[in-house]
Amino acid sequence: MAELQEVQITEEKPLLPGQTPEVAKTHSVETPYGSVTFTVYGTPKPKRPAILTYHDVGLNYKSCFQSLFQFGDMQEIIQNFVRVHVDAPGMEEGAPVFPVGYQYPSLDQLADMIPCILQYLNFSTIIGIGVGAGAYILSRYALNHQDTVEGLVLINIDPNAKGWMDWAAHKLTGLTSSISEMILGHLFSQEELSRNSELIQKYRNIIARAPNLDNIELYWNSYNNRRDLNLERGGDITLKCPVMLVVGDQAPHEDAVVECNSKLDPTQTSFLKMADSGGQPQLTQPGKLTEAIKYFLQGMGYMASSCMTRLSRSRTASLTSAASIDGSRSRSRTMSQSSESGTLSSGPPGHTMEVSC
Ligand code: BEZ
Repeated sequence: MAELQEVQITEEKPLLPGQTPEVAKTHSVETPYGSVTFTVYGTPKPKRPAILTYHDVGLNYKSCFQSLFQFGDMQEIIQNFVRVHVDAPGMEEGAPVFPVGYQYPSLDQLADMIPCILQYLNFSTIIGIGVGAGAYILSRYALNHQDTVEGLVLINIDPNAKGWMDWAAHKLTGLTSSISEMILGHLFSQEELSRNSELIQKYRNIIARAPNLDNIELYWNSYNNRRDLNLERGGDITLKCPVMLVVGDQAPHEDAVVECNSKLDPTQTSFLKMADSGGQPQLTQPGKLTEAIKYFLQGMGYMASSCMTRLSRSRTASLTSAASIDGSRSRSRTMSQSSESGTLSSGPPGHTMEVSC
């Protein structure tokens, strides 16, 4: 972990009145599996974990998380945390293409790079936010380092290795589709892809024209070769921290996330199925996701109710029977989001959590 390069970048980010500009600092650190780049926003806050993000295949930290972290209401959350945004190797902006034959790290090895990042930054605990492959990597990291993970927001996680049926389907699709189309099919629902909205066109362009498409293919291959996380409810291999599972109601990974929910400790897990969000809720519904993250952090004792929006605050009372807001850990709930009412409700039946959407 000895060799470090540091680049200081000042981000262009619209500021709210009274806000001072935040400096983003990009670092690279050597690990046993090669170098990894990450960008730190904000300054460490005493007695608070860092928020650490990990993006999905086909994306980098910016294309995956910028819409969420620059969303207006998100500012009241992130000002309380230092943020570490990891780019998977070869995905950082301007990354050179790896030489032919380069052995790209497995997802498990990518997870094993995280301690090098935290040691370099001297951060002891994190709250992870991951999407797809990034959600898997953060879960693997959490299984190996339970004491350092205070909470996880896992969007579109598939904790299972590909079965032979999935492989057959994958191979068949590979005969007729380009890598970029296969990755788009992983990120977005078929319905979104055929509607071909501006967002889809934007991401289709980003991926298909990426100068590092060969690197992206290597990350994609590692994702498809992932091992089963072997999560087992009540067993030895389970996530011990509070977890919020998130999936769009038409997302390609809905079944996988539902199954993941069934394998986690119900007293520590919230499940949020988000209506009208397609495959990437953090891009299409940053407001709803921000609201849910606020509740999640509040359940962990990190968001004082004075930080909650007026609407959220007025609804907090209905949450208190299911989740503590006084600094103790949250206690199980399943949330589903109804498109008609525009609210989030939580189970088990009788415990209803609503957040404004
Ligand atoms: C942040 O403030 O953490 C952030 C800003 C831009 C892109 C991603 C994250």
